[in-house]
Amino acid sequence: MKSIYIILITIITYVHAIDLTVGDKTSVCDAATEIINGIMDYYEGIRYGGTVGLFQAPYYWWEAGEIFGGMIDTWAWCENDTYEDIIYNALIAQKGSSNNYVPANQSTTEGNDDQGFWGLAVMEATERNFTNPPSDEYGWLALSQAVYNTMLSRWDAGDCNGGLRWQIFQWNSGYDYKNTISNACLFTMAARLARYTNNDTYLDTAEMVWNWLTDIEYVNYTSNGYYIYDGANIGTNNCSSIVTNRWSYNYGLLLSGTAYLYNHTEDDTWLERFENIYLGIENTFVNSSTGIIYEHMCQESGTCNTDQRSFKSIFSRCLGQAAVLVNSYQSKIMSLIDKSAEGAALSCSGGSDGHTCGINWSYGSWDGWYGLGEQISALEIIQNTIVLQVDAPYTNDTGGSSTGNVNAGLDTYETSNDNEITVSNKDKAGAGVLTAIVLIIFVGLCTWVFL
Ligand SMILES: *[C@@H]1O[C@H](CO)[C@@H](O)[C@H](O)[C@H]1NC(C)=O
Ligand SMILES: *[C@@H]1O[C@H](CO)[C@@H](O)[C@H](O)[C@H]1NC(C)=O
Ligand SMILES: *[C@@H]1O[C@H](CO)[C@@H](O)[C@H](O)[C@H]1NC(C)=O
Ligand SMILES: *[C@@H]1O[C@H](CO)[C@@H](O)[C@H](O)[C@H]1NC(C)=O
Ligand SMILES: *[C@@H]1O[C@H](CO)[C@@H](O)[C@H](O)[C@H]1NC(C)=O
Ligand SMILES: *[C@@H]1O[C@H](CO)[C@@H](O)[C@H](O)[C@H]1NC(C)=O
Ligand SMILES: *[C@@H]1O[C@H](CO)[C@@H](O)[C@H](O)[C@H]1NC(C)=O
Ligand SMILES: *[C@@H]1O[C@H](CO)[C@@H](O)[C@H](O)[C@H]1NC(C)=O
Ligand SMILES: *[C@@H]1O[C@H](CO)[C@@H](O)[C@H](O)[C@H]1NC(C)=O
Ligand SMILES: *[C@@H]1O[C@H](CO)[C@@H](O)[C@H](O)[C@H]1NC(C)=O
Repeated sequence: MKSIYIILITIITYVHAIDLTVGDKTSVCDAATEIINGIMDYYEGIRYGGTVGLFQAPYYWWEAGEIFGGMIDTWAWCENDTYEDIIYNALIAQKGSSNNYVPANQSTTEGNDDQGFWGLAVMEATERNFTNPPSDEYGWLALSQAVYNTMLSRWDAGDCNGGLRWQIFQWNSGYDYKNTISNACLFTMAARLARYTNNDTYLDTAEMVWNWLTDIEYVNYTSNGYYIYDGANIGTNNCSSIVTNRWSYNYGLLLSGTAYLYNHTEDDTWLERFENIYLGIENTFVNSSTGIIYEHMCQESGTCNTDQRSFKSIFSRCLGQAAVLVNSYQSKIMSLIDKSAEGAALSCSGGSDGHTCGINWSYGSWDGWYGLGEQISALEIIQNTIVLQVDAPYTNDTGGSSTGNVNAGLDTYETSNDNEITVSNKDKAGAGVLTAIVLIIFVGLCTWVFL
């Protein structure tokens, strides 16, 4: 009896795949639920001895921010509060003692982009009216503003005529690199805060970041749409030796930001910019024979690293936002989302649980790849097939209830802009000592953990 049962289970497991009718809310929410169960297999925060808000190695802190942002959408759209406490506790646990998502534990890994992804998560909480913290604590809006304010105060006009550096802290490698994603996070946060609060100061920031990105040619016009590059070292030539890798998350965030700005201002300049980003997306990230998105730089060669395997996740969320906010592109973008989601669902038939998702959505079934990145990418593309059936992101006037604080974060250490310090030999020695101290503490902690 028992063996028959096991055989049956095995058979069921093998034939099982995520069953999806795109755009059908029940079907989408069932699929989302199954995929999230797969995501939770990687979550440390509910395990004995685990840290609330973190996923297991090798998944970095930033990716947790990406995931919780997506799960807030599932919570809101599927009206399913199963994971509400997990999301809530994670957002609170990782906000840091200064309420700005620069927690002390992450100071050896956190860059502006990492902080930005947690910023996008609390912005999602703001716009989706996620369960508010008690009124004597910072609301989601205030936390979003704290991320924005601290990032903006690190704007570094001293090199390359502006822009954010990749890293926040001097002791992390990449401090001399100015990348698109950090600046795209600030741009999109500014755009969303402008729309949510109706405060024009955020528009000025968005304009400033956009102008810098195009002046420096990280975002460069071509007749095939914008080319959006990775970034450049400050070096001796002011960021002009550009690393020309093109990643979907940069395109996604800039598409989303221009969509918010166009919707909010109805200024055709933003629409034009939006259109050229979208054209760039069509010419770079869409498989022309299947109409399905893929990660252009690494997917075909099978070289996507842990981080890159999750980029289609935020990219998919941004496509959904664009479909909602730019009416004239709605049907075009929805057809891209729907085709990609159908492919993603077919890819989610792997592993011993039968709902492990693969990386290649044009493959027609599971391609043997698995990981947290594959899982959350599938979640986001699939749930965004219902994005037009749910409320548009709220603003303070249309259903949002989050409390803000325009000055949040400005009184914290993380804005003191150590970045601006010209590194004399003495400071270099200081930074070395600091690195050593951090290392000693880190090694000490590891030893302690292993003992
Ligand atoms: C809500 O999500 C949980 C976990 O993902 C799932 O088990 C449950 O069936 C979902 N509830 C509904 C009503 O879909
Ligand atoms: C910081 O790290 C320590 C040691 O690993 C852990 O106990 C603590 O929960 C972490 N705190 C946060 C907010 O991640
Ligand atoms: C949001 O709206 C409330 C009234 O509902 C108002 O009191 C508050 O000042 C507004 N906040 C912002 C940031 O505009
Ligand atoms: C940007 O486009 C201009 C005009 O086509 C070209 O001369 C320049 O080399 C491009 N810059 C980069 C970084 O590709
Ligand atoms: C880099 O930019 C700075 C500030 O704008 C300027 O003073 C310097 O001459 C520039 N260097 C080069 C090599 O272009
Ligand atoms: C696009 O999909 C087709 C059909 O699966 C495949 O043959 C082709 O290699 C794919 N191209 C890319 C760039 O993924
Ligand atoms: C702006 O977004 C709303 C949804 O909130 C949508 O109904 C409207 O058509 C959009 N405006 C434009 C100009 O696309
Ligand atoms: C996806 O799978 C198809 C079908 O096997 C293959 O032809 C294609 O090269 C793969 N594309 C990517 C981007 O992985
Ligand atoms: C947002 O949440 C508040 C507080 O829970 C609630 O009163 C309000 O009705 C919610 N708004 C929407 C549009 O659901
Ligand atoms: C608008 O935002 C700016 C920048 O955070 C802030 O200084 C200003 O006080 C805000 N204005 C209002 C009316 O809230």
